[in-house]
Amino acid sequence: MKVVLALLLTLSSDVLSLDKLNMCMDAKHHKVEPGPEGQLYSQCSPWRENACCTANTSEEAHNDNSYLYKFNWNHCGAMSDACKKHFIQDTCFYECSPHLGPWIQEADQSWRKERIIDVPLCKEDCESWWSDCKNDTTCKTDWHKGWDWSSGTNKCPEGSKCSKWTDVFPTPKSMCEQIWSQSYVYTTYTKSSGRCMQLWFTGANPNRKVAEYYLNNSKGSQSFSPTMLLFLTVMVLTGINN
Ligand SMILES: *[C@@H]1O[C@H](CO)[C@@H](O)[C@H](O)[C@H]1NC(C)=O
Ligand SMILES: *[C@@H]1O[C@H](CO)[C@@H](O)[C@H](O)[C@H]1NC(C)=O
Ligand SMILES: *[C@@H]1O[C@H](CO)[C@@H](O)[C@H](O)[C@H]1NC(C)=O
Repeated sequence: MKVVLALLLTLSSDVLSLDKLNMCMDAKHHKVEPGPEGQLYSQCSPWRENACCTANTSEEAHNDNSYLYKFNWNHCGAMSDACKKHFIQDTCFYECSPHLGPWIQEADQSWRKERIIDVPLCKEDCESWWSDCKNDTTCKTDWHKGWDWSSGTNKCPEGSKCSKWTDVFPTPKSMCEQIWSQSYVYTTYTKSSGRCMQLWFTGANPNRKVAEYYLNNSKGSQSFSPTMLLFLTVMVLTGINN
């Protein structure tokens, strides 16, 4: 009986306290709650109305080797500006987006408690990212792990070599899915579909509706309404008292 009660309490706290359509993940630089950020910088400005990033984070997102992660985009020579702008946008999306709830999972990493997995990216955003980086070079497919950090910033590990982008990532799909260890999944949905998340947008954030769609259609969603949980909890408690 105690087990059932504990289970119910866990389920109800999930349902009642977590607004998966408007939340921030528990990670290195995210705010605790989303909210307006009038001063968001340059490429992060589309999130001004409601963001998980601070103005400071948004500005740092535009810097090479920024204090955020000390990440060096130029690990195989200077990254082209056309390519880099996509990485900046990707950083804005990751740090600022309040609508990643359906894809947030626990992470077994020292620098963050939660991460995103399998966020469905719009075809155009993934393809333009790959196409603008096509002439660049890199030495790794998974940029989350395996660097040489001994100098304080990431360098290509010993034994790796800098290769053409297209040799490392033959397709847009391979790049979007592998570069951040499955944070993203490539889709053939276009921006107008309402079925994929947009890294680039202007005006009202279109990603809230997409998150709502995936929440509505995820397995087991809404199988317990708050009222139902209250009812079940009362039943269990009554059972215990008898
Ligand atoms: C952001 O904050 C960090 C830590 O407080 C600071 O070192 C850095 O200079 C700030 N960056 C900007 C762009 O204000
Ligand atoms: C890549 O290089 C080719 C051949 O030099 C050039 O035509 C193309 O515009 C370049 N693409 C980018 C995104 O720099
Ligand atoms: C999700 O479900 C709610 C309640 O049934 C509905 O009002 C809403 O339009 C749905 N949203 C999407 C994007 O499918």
